[in-house]
Amino acid sequence: MEKHVILIGFMGSGKSTIGKKLAEELGVSFVDSDTSIEAKEGCSVSEIFEQKGEDYFREKEREFIAGLDGMQPSVVSVGGGMPCFFDNMEQLKMKGKVFYLNVSVMTLVKRVMAERATRPLLASLSDQEVSAFVFDKLIERTTFYRKAHHIIPNETVNTEATVADILKVLG
Ligand code: S3P
Repeated sequence: MEKHVILIGFMGSGKSTIGKKLAEELGVSFVDSDTSIEAKEGCSVSEIFEQKGEDYFREKEREFIAGLDGMQPSVVSVGGGMPCFFDNMEQLKMKGKVFYLNVSVMTLVKRVMAERATRPLLASLSDQEVSAFVFDKLIERTTFYRKAHHIIPNETVNTEATVADILKVLG
């Protein structure tokens, strides 16, 4: 593998699950932007949002992309908002092959509802507000996500099938 394989998509689209399995299949490392930022900052993404604010986190995401140059080709999963700030999407496309994991809004709402506590953008919202947030944000973000090199559906939780679809594209 010459370049990174980069997975983008909304919170709950399955980037980490698919990314870990894909990395295993390809025999390369799996890197997650949130986890890398947390390790570097010494605190959780939620704490970064609370203590330093979202703008600071978005700067750290930008630095993460710049850092991809110095890394061995890996499977890289990035935070749901990352492709939608600055010129991040163009930058990501220069660092590797970008795959958008496409999941319908209804499925995303169901998935993120269950994990709301660990998501700083959702933690304080009611059920109804979470649905509205996902609907609104997905519309806004889809414009960015769709610039990916490839769009892969990941509607059902069938990791094997989605990984196989990506491997087919990679040849
Ligand atoms: C965010 C998504 C999260 C994390 C942060 C903000 C977003 O990553 O980066 O909470 O703006 O959608 P995941 O997509 O991995 O949950």
